[in-house]
Amino acid sequence: MKRLLALTAAAFIALPLTPAVAQDGTPGAPGAGDPYFPGQGNGGYDAGHYDLGLDYDPGSNRLSGVTRVSARATQALSRFNLDLVSTLSVRSVTVDGRPAAYTQSGSELVVTPRFRLRDGRGFSVVVRYDGRPAHVLDPDGSMDGWIRTSDGVYNANEPQGAMTWYPGNHHMTDKATYRFTVTVPSTRVAVANGDLVSKVRKSGRTTYVWDSKEPMASYLATVSIGKFQLSDSRIGGYRVTTAVDPALAADAQGLPGRHPPVLDFFSSVFGPYPFSSTGAIVDDAPEVGYALETQTRPLYPRAPSESLLAHELAHQWFGDSVTPTLWRDIWLNEGFATYAEWLWADKLGTQTVQASFDEAYARAADDEFWQTPPADPGGPANLFHDPVYDRGAMTLHVLRRDVGEGAFFAILRAWAAEHKYGNADTAAFIALSERVSGEQLDALFDAWLFKPGKPSL
Ligand code: ARG
Ligand code: ZN
Repeated sequence: MKRLLALTAAAFIALPLTPAVAQDGTPGAPGAGDPYFPGQGNGGYDAGHYDLGLDYDPGSNRLSGVTRVSARATQALSRFNLDLVSTLSVRSVTVDGRPAAYTQSGSELVVTPRFRLRDGRGFSVVVRYDGRPAHVLDPDGSMDGWIRTSDGVYNANEPQGAMTWYPGNHHMTDKATYRFTVTVPSTRVAVANGDLVSKVRKSGRTTYVWDSKEPMASYLATVSIGKFQLSDSRIGGYRVTTAVDPALAADAQGLPGRHPPVLDFFSSVFGPYPFSSTGAIVDDAPEVGYALETQTRPLYPRAPSESLLAHELAHQWFGDSVTPTLWRDIWLNEGFATYAEWLWADKLGTQTVQASFDEAYARAADDEFWQTPPADPGGPANLFHDPVYDRGAMTLHVLRRDVGEGAFFAILRAWAAEHKYGNADTAAFIALSERVSGEQLDALFDAWLFKPGKPSL
């Protein structure tokens, strides 16, 4: 309403909108308010699109980048922050084409535009920067961000690595579309999210353009680089684009063709596959150890097993399309993807869901496993602890047995449909489950999601 009035005034009063009359603003918050990562994300604006230009030399680890962020102010802004580690040096910042003042400290880039930005105004920020990127260590000790390999980069950014290679609003509640234009020596391949648009070779360097048209949280973005074998084909109605480290070519034999059956099965259970392309990045990175559900194209540190493939593809619905609101809600990703692994194994006839549940439930009552409630894992060091995965999946199975087959799968489909490309938290999942099933489910969720100790059946 306020915005409409402002627009009307602008349209009917023939005054030039000179910056000199812009309203007063206040600084945007330096964080999005997530207790696990207080500095992550920023307040005062909403990013809509990132245009990332990256030029990288794997030998010297020199990165030079130009990031254009198209954003909208959500308050009158005197200044605002982007997240970027200070080991990368910012060379210039413009806001709507005009040079802006900036400072870097810690992982905050503070930008003060020449003129205040009124609430609701669209603006674009261009940041030029360069340096030698490095990964960060997460609270659980794992490597995160721009992780160098022998031939390039394993670029995995959950939960906080995005700030190690481009400036942005790096909390998962601010999703945006992306375009990646990445130049690397022609001996290397640069793979990102979405659709491969072009590949142009010029004097020993190749520029890859990737387009990610559906909204994406920045922890799901990737630009991974290596001596990959690239394959891009249409199989069973999907565009499947894979990049495989030649050392793993034999292990990853037939990988593109393994995607459609999994995606078809999950589409039949969860609803339509939410993205315009799919695929995999298979790197030889045993030192990293973990895979990541990078949007459209998961990243694997080895050739994926059938269960790992199913896990990361299920995340495309649960994690990527529907994304948690806070890091504390991470079981909505990991519990669901683990349950999807169980469903896929059941479908293949390898192991029934019930047997997977029984195996997980068989842990002794005094096992430390039972001390971490999945929906309140107790801090960022526990984000990827086993209970978040296994007890999260067990919660879904207990829900299924309680509400019945029809209601359970209706809940999963409604979750994927109602929050498509958005964010949602545990309270929203509980409310949805109660609405669809018509049951009071507080006791079930309390015991399984929030209370330490082994729940009885
Ligand atoms: N979401 C990933 C998966 O379960 C795990 C990411 C772990 N990240 C980390 N920094 N340890 O597939
Ligand atoms: Zn996962």
